[in-house]
Amino acid sequence: MHLHRYEKLWLMLGVSMLVGFFVVLLYGQFVQGFMPAHGFQTIDPTKVDQTPPFNQPGVFKKGDNEYEAVLVAMAFGYQPNVIEVPAGATVHFKITTKDVVHGFQIPKTNVNAMVIPGYVSETSYTFKKPGEYLILCNEYCGVGHQMMMAKVKVTE
Ligand code: CUA
Repeated sequence: MHLHRYEKLWLMLGVSMLVGFFVVLLYGQFVQGFMPAHGFQTIDPTKVDQTPPFNQPGVFKKGDNEYEAVLVAMAFGYQPNVIEVPAGATVHFKITTKDVVHGFQIPKTNVNAMVIPGYVSETSYTFKKPGEYLILCNEYCGVGHQMMMAKVKVTE
């Protein structure tokens, strides 16, 4: 079969566009594999109970009035349910979810995170005043959404 010069040119153009397309596609997946969305730490949501630090949710002292609070959100609550720290404590929260998207909001503070299956959300806050701070779920997650809460007890 004899191809006209222009037909050959078009064919080559078509093939090179196709190759270019695949290179871009592969490169995109390659880059994504190394950089998960926005630097969020990832986690297998079906293995939360076995994955440190979420295999042991709780509050851990990390330094001078500095704490790490590891929480697991699930329909319809948080584990642990109460976090107790002394006044002035800086708490670094690490939260993940075992099921659907939940929220993590502490009213009257700037703590407001979205907890997405497969990801670890991190946020920090310094609790200056003693008292009880409610942790609320502000993402609709099902019939028990309104009841989904926990609290931070800040002692004197
Ligand atoms: Cu969890 Cu709403």
